[in-house]
Amino acid sequence: MFELANSHRSIRSYTDQKIDPDLLNDILMTGLRSSSSGNIQSWSVIVTQDEENKAKLFKAHYEQPMVNEAPAVLTFCADFHRMREWIRVNGSKQSFDDFLGFMVGAVDAVIAAQSICLAAESVGLGICYMGTTLMSADKIIEILELPENVFPVTSIVIGYPAEDPALRDRLSLDMMVHHETYRPLSDDEIREKHADREKNAWDRYNAIPELKAKLAEAGITKVTDFYTSEFKYSKEMHTEVSTMLLAKLKEQGFWL
Ligand SMILES: Cc1cc2nc3c(=O)[nH]c(=O)nc-3n(C[C@H](O)[C@H](O)[C@H](O)COP(=O)(O)O)c2cc1C
Repeated sequence: MFELANSHRSIRSYTDQKIDPDLLNDILMTGLRSSSSGNIQSWSVIVTQDEENKAKLFKAHYEQPMVNEAPAVLTFCADFHRMREWIRVNGSKQSFDDFLGFMVGAVDAVIAAQSICLAAESVGLGICYMGTTLMSADKIIEILELPENVFPVTSIVIGYPAEDPALRDRLSLDMMVHHETYRPLSDDEIREKHADREKNAWDRYNAIPELKAKLAEAGITKVTDFYTSEFKYSKEMHTEVSTMLLAKLKEQGFWL
C-alpha cells in the first residue's frame, strides 16, 4: 500500500487497450466500500466509454488529448438526487437540497474517486484527474444529463499507460502537517521552503520553447507570476468560473 501510494504519477498518454469490463467493475467496487457520510453514499460516477460521448467530454475538458486517448472517463458527482427520491417515495420530510448537501456529496465523491484511483493503479492502469470538470461544470451537467441535486466534482481518465513519467516534486511534509494548532510560516520559511519548486518549475516551463517565448513576451519572470497569469489560474478566470459554479449550484438545487 505504501509503495503504491508513494509511486503515483498522473498519466496523460494512453495505449488503445480497452479495460476489461469485469476489471473495471472490480475497480469501481472499491469506491462502493469507501467511507461515506452517514453511509448515505451521496455520490455517483458516470462512466463514459462511447467514442461520441467521449468526444463531447473532450471539448468540455478544454480538448485535453488524454480524454480522447484513454478508453474511459469517469465523472464523479455529488449526488443527493437518489436519496431525495427515496425520501419522496416514502413521503418523508425532504432535506439535503442546500450547500451543506453539496459539500457532503462532494467529499463523498472525492473519497470514492481516490479509492478507485488507487485500485486502478494497483493493477497497472494509469489515471489523471481533471480540474476542467469544475471549469466546465455547466457543459458537463448538460452532456451527462445530470438531474437536480447532482453536480460534477471531479473526473479522471483511466487506461493503460503509454508513458512512464518521473515522480513529480512535492513540497515537504512539514508544510502540510501542523501539530495541535496551525502554524503559519514566516516569510523566510516561505522563501526557503519554496526555493526548489521555484527553480525546478521555472526551469521546466522554460524548457518548452513555445511557453518560454510566451513567458518572455508577457514579462513573466518567476513561477508565481505564471500561476496567476492569464496562462494558468488568473483571478479573472477564477471569478468567472466561481460565478458560473454558484449559479449552477443554485440551478441544480444545492443552495439555501
Ligand atoms: C483535482 C485535480 C485536478 C487536476 N486537473 C488536471 C488537468 O485538468 N489536467 C492535467 O493534465 N492534470 C491535472 N491534474 C493532475 C495534476 O497536475 C497532478 O496531480 C500534479 O501535477 C502532480 O503530478 P502527479 O500526479 O504526477 O504526481 C489534476 C489533479 C487534481 C488532483
